[in-house]
Amino acid sequence: MKEIKVFSPASVSNISCGFDVLGFAMEGLGDIISLKKIDKKGVFIKNISGFNIPLDVKKNTATVALLAFLEKLDYSYGFEISIEKNIKPGSGLGSSAASAAGSVYAANMILGEPFTLNQLVEFAMQGELISSESAPADNIASSLFGGIVLVDNFTKYKVINLPIPQDIFAVIHHPLISVSTSESRNQLPNKVLLKNASDQLTNIASFVHSLHTNNIDLMKLSLNDHLVQNQREDLFPYFKKIKNISNEMGSLCCSISGSGPSIFSLVSGYKLAEKIKLDIDKGFIKMGVKFNSYLSTFGSQGARVLQF
Ligand code: HSE
Repeated sequence: MKEIKVFSPASVSNISCGFDVLGFAMEGLGDIISLKKIDKKGVFIKNISGFNIPLDVKKNTATVALLAFLEKLDYSYGFEISIEKNIKPGSGLGSSAASAAGSVYAANMILGEPFTLNQLVEFAMQGELISSESAPADNIASSLFGGIVLVDNFTKYKVINLPIPQDIFAVIHHPLISVSTSESRNQLPNKVLLKNASDQLTNIASFVHSLHTNNIDLMKLSLNDHLVQNQREDLFPYFKKIKNISNEMGSLCCSISGSGPSIFSLVSGYKLAEKIKLDIDKGFIKMGVKFNSYLSTFGSQGARVLQF
């Protein structure tokens, strides 16, 4: 096999109670990566369509990830890459991660899978770190593994896929403004109160238990953040109004996706999710904020082959 086309999904990280360690893959939005193995050594960009991203292979998250991948191999060949960039950079939906994850996933498939998905996370992270120096692997792990992930950022990004609960949907709104992950992370304190850390621990443990037991009431109780959301909310003036709409309609949570500006609600039942999406749409229209919105399964498939 010399050529491949893959889809690499957008993702929502943090999931309220899991700052930097939880994430899930989205349905219906993602980048498309076409990769061709060539005789010339190195990595070359053939074409980029959609949103603008760097054309310099040392600054583009996908090509930096590919170079990290190749460095681990004794190689005499190269790759030519084309990217359909469908996820807006600075959306809080794992845009840089999706391109980086998709490119190493494609390279691995072309070469007959010499690496595990966990190893691919390490290569893709080299790309992710180009766009944000302190980025964790929550979005990369979501795009590569799919479903709902828990990632350990300290031990070579070990990833665990958590159970997907029945009949839970994600309503995602992307207001069309850009916020860089570094900018949003700069707002965060270096220290947190012990009480807040303890509350966060309770929530994440309860959340993981709720997934294993499909306990929706416990899930709702656990979907709260005690570490970062307060500091970030002011960056997004629409957030509180939208959260009220979502909560009043009966969502399980409404929270910032990753470092923002996108926000997401988790909802039990498809019909209610449709209603909540529509009401939040109306809320944004009323505030005069342009947006895109999505209704996704809570934990969709990860990077996948579209065409050999
Ligand atoms: N989890 C990160 C944050 C963003 O909240 O800053 C994505 O890696």
